[in-house]
Amino acid sequence: MSEENHVASKEMKVSSFGSLPTHIAVIMDGNGRWAKQHGLPRIAGHRRGLESVRTMVKACADYKIPYLTLFAFSSENWKRPPAEVNLLMDLFANALEQKARRLHENNVCLRIVGEINRFTPKIRMLIQRAETLTRGNNGLRLTIAANYGGRWDVTQACQQIVQDVTAGKLKAEDVNADTIARRLATAYLPEPDLFIRTGGEQRVSNFLLWQLAYTELYFTETLWPAFDHKEFDQAIASFEKRERRFGKTGDQIVKQRQIRNA
Ligand code: IPE
Ligand code: IPE
Ligand code: MG
Repeated sequence: MSEENHVASKEMKVSSFGSLPTHIAVIMDGNGRWAKQHGLPRIAGHRRGLESVRTMVKACADYKIPYLTLFAFSSENWKRPPAEVNLLMDLFANALEQKARRLHENNVCLRIVGEINRFTPKIRMLIQRAETLTRGNNGLRLTIAANYGGRWDVTQACQQIVQDVTAGKLKAEDVNADTIARRLATAYLPEPDLFIRTGGEQRVSNFLLWQLAYTELYFTETLWPAFDHKEFDQAIASFEKRERRFGKTGDQIVKQRQIRNA
């Protein structure tokens, strides 16, 4: 497809029925296997994975998708061999140091979510610096989940609630789903519409457990370093075909759509 047609077809998608996702959440999996397939050390796969992050950010900008959340390091990834963990930390620090300015120039607002205090003071400083630099940007809201776990997130929200109840700021009987959602690390984000996992595994691996309740799930065999704009187009096309019912019947959804389009 020529560049021009490619852009035109995207514009059509924007205006057609089957709306685009507002928030996409991604498990970027398969870096290690990609490296192995290419006879390279695992870290080379992680490095190459950073290129796919750039592609993804650009693709979201092309489609004007406002929110993108990427799972970079899970609470459980500390269990990997120390050498790999150390190299991943170095890569994270370098990326924060070197890519923040570029993101800023592209009007991206960057946020990191996760148990940040487990990182070294240097990484914590770089996180703060990158977030401060990009805070005022109103382009893509890019969230990186680092040392993040869905169970950690719900647990820390519960801790805040218990503290508020103990301090008399909140009554136990007033606690509802919204009370929890507002205390999650991702409270500033809408819930994801589309979840993408690369690398062939069909599991959530302790990513956004609460937030994925009604998210459309998309799995691809493609390994993360090989995930390109065309792959992204396929994920979007799959999403656009789906009818989201949120517990209602298909007939109710059709009726709602007719009223909305009238
Ligand atoms: C995802 O790729 C990146 C991280 C978890 C940091 P993997 O490193 O899990 O790659 P595979 O699954 O071993 O191929
Ligand atoms: C999930 O991938 C975490 C990230 C991509 C950051 P893993 O490779 O850690 O997941 P499992 O271990 O296969 O479930
Ligand atoms: Mg993996």
